[in-house]
Amino acid sequence: MSREQLSEALRRIEASPTTAMTDRATALREQGRDVISLSVGEPDFATPAHVIEAAKAALDAGDTKYTPVTGTARLKRAAALHFERDLGIATEPKSVIVTAGGKQAIFEALAATVGEGDQVIIPAPWWVSYPQMVRFCGGTVVPLETGAQDNFRFEPAALQALITPRTRWLLLNSPGNPTGAVFPAEMLLAIGEILRRHPQVMVLSDDIYSPLIYTGAPHATLANLCPDLANRICTVSGVSKSHAMTGFRIGVATGPTWLIEAMGRLQSNTSGNPASISQAAAVAAFEGPQDFLAGWRDRLRARRDLVVAAVNAIPGLSCPVPEGAFYVFVDAAPLMSRFDDDGALALHLLEHGVAVVAASAFGGKDGFRISFAADEAALSEALRRIAAALN
Ligand SMILES: Cc1ncc(COP(=O)(O)O)c(C=O)c1O
Repeated sequence: MSREQLSEALRRIEASPTTAMTDRATALREQGRDVISLSVGEPDFATPAHVIEAAKAALDAGDTKYTPVTGTARLKRAAALHFERDLGIATEPKSVIVTAGGKQAIFEALAATVGEGDQVIIPAPWWVSYPQMVRFCGGTVVPLETGAQDNFRFEPAALQALITPRTRWLLLNSPGNPTGAVFPAEMLLAIGEILRRHPQVMVLSDDIYSPLIYTGAPHATLANLCPDLANRICTVSGVSKSHAMTGFRIGVATGPTWLIEAMGRLQSNTSGNPASISQAAAVAAFEGPQDFLAGWRDRLRARRDLVVAAVNAIPGLSCPVPEGAFYVFVDAAPLMSRFDDDGALALHLLEHGVAVVAASAFGGKDGFRISFAADEAALSEALRRIAAALN
């Protein structure tokens, strides 16, 4: 098929660069090359046993047919429990939608509301798929620049300056991919203050990394802090990162009923219901024990500290300490005279046996993202290889 046959909407987007790098690393490995992949955004922990058992039980019970399009009643109740218990957002099952991963929920919310000329403010560096989804819908991406010096947080005044009558959404992602930025409650309260002056702006709060905060501070989220704005906030969560269930493809969202219904309308005509077995597993994830999370967090914190110390010990590289998620966003600006761009830098590191993703893929520049959701030995060896490659 030639490019001309593609729709205009499709021509505006590219394949996910994080997936592309991971595929490249896998292909090299299949050729027998020794490549450590730090490009993928998924925990290396095994899915908890009680979740696996629930999936098996669902299969044995013949739970293999269509379910209601927007999720089983049981899972919507469990998701409502999750929103209330873990995020402090009071909701009810009819205001919850179950999707095939958090990704589908975000796409549906944008596709249901964004059209030609609408503007969407996204703090940069951003998760790769946000701008692609906005462009697919015909919207315009308005970057809200953040930097390492502020640990990738923005001043609420900078947000105010970008809002226009055409602003449709503000996307918030805390803890964030690719920088690990965590937005404290005071910052969200100040954002809420601004939003009260701009009723045309909705907020998509992507809380998919909510349990992974390393400072000891509780997770803060806008719908909890500013309940008066709840009818303008869509909060997205899931089990992919929190329960190491990326392959199950279950996400959940809650927001104003009109939006959740619109997302369901889209889902009913596109993917249909998320996989029945995965839904049963997600019930176990939300309703079952959550105490394993503290152990995962401790292990991830230790890995983060290992990576941050090793990065900052390499001449020309630096990074702040990420407070959440499992990514380190590395600045390599002092070394960039040796490379055409940071894509070339990432390929150079791949040649030396480490897959990372260039900062430019995330709307950043002159650096790369390391995922530290890999075991300590792999991380140590990867950092040794990066040091050797850049020496
Ligand atoms: C910020 C962010 N939001 C959403 C997602 C989507 O997660 P899921 O695998 O549940 O679709 C990801 C996955 O990488 C992510 O990093």
